Amino acid sequence: MSTPDLSDLRGCKVVFSGFHAPKLGVVETFTNAVMTIDDAGVITVIEPDGDLTGAIHLPEDWLLIPGLVDLHVHAPQYAQLGAALDEPLEDWLQKYTFPLEARFEDLSYADEVYSTLIEDMLAIGTTTALHFATIHVPATKRLAEICLAKGQRALVGKVAMDDPELCPPYYRDASPEEAIEGTREVIDFIRGLPNNDGMVHPVITPRFIPSCTDACLEGLGALAKATGAHVQSHVSESDWQHGFVQDRCGCSDAEAFKRFGLLRENAVFAHGTHLSESDMDLMVSHGAGVAHCPLSNAYFAGAVFPLRVALEKGLEVGFGSDISGGPSGSIWETARMGISAARILESGVDANTPAETRGTGDQRIDFKEAFFLATRGGADALGLPVGSFEIGMKLDALAIDPTRKEGTVRFWPEDTDLRKLEKMLYTVSKPNIVRVWTDGVRRV
Ligand code: GUN
Ligand code: FE
Repeated sequence: MSTPDLSDLRGCKVVFSGFHAPKLGVVETFTNAVMTIDDAGVITVIEPDGDLTGAIHLPEDWLLIPGLVDLHVHAPQYAQLGAALDEPLEDWLQKYTFPLEARFEDLSYADEVYSTLIEDMLAIGTTTALHFATIHVPATKRLAEICLAKGQRALVGKVAMDDPELCPPYYRDASPEEAIEGTREVIDFIRGLPNNDGMVHPVITPRFIPSCTDACLEGLGALAKATGAHVQSHVSESDWQHGFVQDRCGCSDAEAFKRFGLLRENAVFAHGTHLSESDMDLMVSHGAGVAHCPLSNAYFAGAVFPLRVALEKGLEVGFGSDISGGPSGSIWETARMGISAARILESGVDANTPAETRGTGDQRIDFKEAFFLATRGGADALGLPVGSFEIGMKLDALAIDPTRKEGTVRFWPEDTDLRKLEKMLYTVSKPNIVRVWTDGVRRV
């Protein structure tokens, strides 16, 4: 057999082993399965025991899984990832984050940070990301161009924030009209990018209700309706933020977003740690989803997102790193924290409280559910045709080599397939990620 050329899988028939999670709680294992990819990177055949004639084989030890989806990234904040985590949200924004984001008026700085971010995300297996950029139209366009050039499937939004109450003079849209017009300009630009065949999408991005005037939010709601573009924001993130919206709008964030026409199909709202059950029901009935950001929540939310409750209600959930509110840009780390956070919510935290009353009952998720949320769950929340290996899906995938000495995965002969997936989820690190493809084209 000749050495397989794995740089472009379009138009190829591939023999592979690996895993996917097509539904919450369901994992399927592939062992020398056959997949055919068409010239557009779409999976056209997937067979457990297909005809191997004319196929190229992935190396035997490699395990193929769907690319990871990050539902909440502040792209400019990559410059402060792993720092500045000592203040509550409302102070963190003013002291560190707005000054940092204001620097993206400088396109050369934007180029440098955004190029590094997208390369680093792809290298750890994040093939799809939902990005907040900054208020700047030129730098936001540049982020979209960089995602397209480097091959990250991405949704990119110009941040809208115009309320002088909360936004400093040096970093805000001058008026609701400017926020709305800038958003419209970026939507048109992204949709018109040459060779953008479903790779990069625009997203309407009111930062959060406290940073936007009613006029801005209403205008963005109308723009969402007129353009059909995706929507993203933050929802009920912290006690302060949740209370701010209650005071100003006389209702919860979710109800306010509904009022402004922003609670829509495939809209994704970050955090939701303080959502009530009726808020969750409202989001489900409008087809909106949640980016669960457990690493960030440990620093800013003051609570653990009740993931189990959300999933049982049928709320669409995926993981978000929340770069840089969470100190890791890796969806692997985020998923691990997601499992841990749910367990801590279940057990409770205070040893001085009796064990029976310490926690909040059945809250855990397992590695199979976390694997789904990191892949297909995130893709479903966005309505994108990726996240599992099924006919009609675009091939976004990564190959894990569990035998790499420099890596951190160690399998033993007694490990079953499912146990291998479990170990992978918990122990994979960058040296184990040996290939990354989007649309069937090698990016790493
Ligand atoms: N709420 C408004 N802006 C932000 C932000 O940049 N990060 C987080 N975590 N929450 C926010
Ligand atoms: Fe955020």
